[in-house]
Amino acid sequence: MPDYTYQNLIRENLNQLEKQKKMNALSTCFFTHLFHLNPELADVLDGDVMMLHRKFANTMATLKNIRYLDKISSAIEAMALRHVGYGAEIQHFTAFRQALLNALQELLAEYFTASHQEAWQKTFDAVADIMQRVMQENPRLTQKKTIAMTQKTHLLDDIGGTEKILAVHQRFYDAIYNDTYLVGFFHHRSKRELIEKQTEFMVAAFGGENHYAGQPPAFIHMHMFITKEMSDIRTIYLKKSIREEGLSDDIAQRWLAIDHTFHASIEKKSVGECVMRALFQQPLTVKKPDDYQAPMDHT
Ligand code: HEM
Ligand code: HEM
Repeated sequence: MPDYTYQNLIRENLNQLEKQKKMNALSTCFFTHLFHLNPELADVLDGDVMMLHRKFANTMATLKNIRYLDKISSAIEAMALRHVGYGAEIQHFTAFRQALLNALQELLAEYFTASHQEAWQKTFDAVADIMQRVMQENPRLTQKKTIAMTQKTHLLDDIGGTEKILAVHQRFYDAIYNDTYLVGFFHHRSKRELIEKQTEFMVAAFGGENHYAGQPPAFIHMHMFITKEMSDIRTIYLKKSIREEGLSDDIAQRWLAIDHTFHASIEKKSVGECVMRALFQQPLTVKKPDDYQAPMDHT
């Protein structure tokens, strides 16, 4: 098929999603699949919901404009070089491609025909080939190994596996539900379910098997006005729960370092940073009780 036909098919899909105001839904679905397929990518594609949507929109704009590949390949080469700087790696493309195809399939359903699928695959592969070649020729001099990634080594085993994490989270959510301030976020939420979800999520974040099928934290919390103060209170409970389960201070530090990598995508400086899911949804705000007693950090 000539590449302009591919471009038309891609445009048809994207125009339809734009008309139905479903581009953010596509992006949400993409990141949910992406981080499920490869949780480590949350370290590379980080940021809050608006930043993630913007990064996704940039990728779509590129794929939408691919026509005469030979003429624009120098632009793609330059983009690939920038990606080396972002910490993107050759092996990341597999999950990226799969997540994109899954998200398109889910949102477009019958409009994602076999021809559309072929158009996306061929276009993605053509761009990815150029990007991967450039990345191969220009390896990163220093690996983007964050502190959290180093802390992750053997952490799951050192903690004592999934059961231990579950026990920590039981203590942790008991404490959160007893906190007169933070509990405001959790009314009507099933504690049991949160304990299980949080456990699945952290097992994956520690490098274990990924059974977490929910949305990434940036999306889950996007409408919640969570301040740094609240996040710090939460950290105190988490640290206490880890220590009370008999785990060492070293393990607590390594656990918290990984937990911390998600804070920037959740914390907000003003209520205006909240992003709503639906048109008439209100930001979720919680008022500090006048007689609030913050937990003490004894460690
Ligand atoms: C066909 C595949 C891809 C395309 C067309 C694409 C396109 C883009 C574009 C156009 C941008 C905007 C910034 C710029 O132009 O430099 C961007 C940003 C970004 N991309 Fe990609 N990308 C692709 C694959 C990937 C992969 C596999 C990763 C690694 C997981 C990745 C990670 C990133 C990151 C981290 C940014 C954000 C940079 C920042 O604003 O901080 N991309 N991408
Ligand atoms: C003060 C900080 C935080 C508050 C107030 C908060 C609040 C909440 C609330 C209310 C929910 C339930 C959402 C719902 O059922 O609709 C939730 C779910 C969740 N949160 Fe947080 N959160 C905080 C920090 C974090 C952090 C740092 C992480 C990651 C390390 C995280 C990971 C999760 C996960 C995995 C879920 C389960 C999502 C699901 O049901 O699929 N949260 N959080």
